Amino acid sequence: MELTAAIQKRCSIRRFKDTPVEKEKITKILEAAQRAPSWGNTQPWRFLVITDKAKMAEVAQAAGGQPQAAGAPVLIVCCATIDDMTKKGHGEALRSLIPAGAMTEELVNIVLGSDIFAPYRRGDAYMAIKAGEQMMIAVAYMTLAAVDQGLATCWVGAITPKEIHKVLNLPDNIFVHSLLPVGYADEDPKPRPRKDLNKIVFWEKYS
Ligand SMILES: Cc1cc2nc3c(=O)[nH]c(=O)nc-3n(C[C@H](O)[C@H](O)[C@H](O)COP(=O)(O)O)c2cc1C
Repeated sequence: MELTAAIQKRCSIRRFKDTPVEKEKITKILEAAQRAPSWGNTQPWRFLVITDKAKMAEVAQAAGGQPQAAGAPVLIVCCATIDDMTKKGHGEALRSLIPAGAMTEELVNIVLGSDIFAPYRRGDAYMAIKAGEQMMIAVAYMTLAAVDQGLATCWVGAITPKEIHKVLNLPDNIFVHSLLPVGYADEDPKPRPRKDLNKIVFWEKYS
């Protein structure tokens, strides 16, 4: 599907068919997340794919009981780690860019020595914020890739991350960012309204 068409078609779907989702399609969606850009190529995302309905229901309970979180055949639990934002993790990510010609060893040292370019220099809370930012891009990519696969999603960000962490027995270095149920749509809602372009876009001068 053409990208603009996928962007226009995507909308949050909260009712899904029971039809199982092909694993190849889920892989395509995850590959889209993999290709997302990230701060210094840190890629702090981790994705846990759940198809077990009982487990899904437990996770949904920790999402304020939102039924859509457990309503699709597949639930992608989108997690992040600040390990990839630490000096070591960020350094490795930057060095991975050298063979592609997008970084030099000299630049790596400049980046890691800068309060602006290196989140680790501002502490754990800042690294978590930055990791969360990168997650948003990956999840957005997945929502569009799902449309491309004829599938639908509903981004679920209203969650209690610590409870989901416990339900899924996740390691300490991982935090839950959001949930993405994926399945075939069982509703065809109207496009949701957006602010007019002239209210959000300014050319040359803010007015
Ligand atoms: C970061 C984020 C968190 C969201 N959290 C929830 C959520 O917890 N539950 C839900 O039903 N929808 C959630 N949504 C979906 C929004 O409500 C939806 O995108 C918005 O109303 C616009 O509708 P559309 O996606 O159909 O265009 C979330 C969307 C984003 C981007």
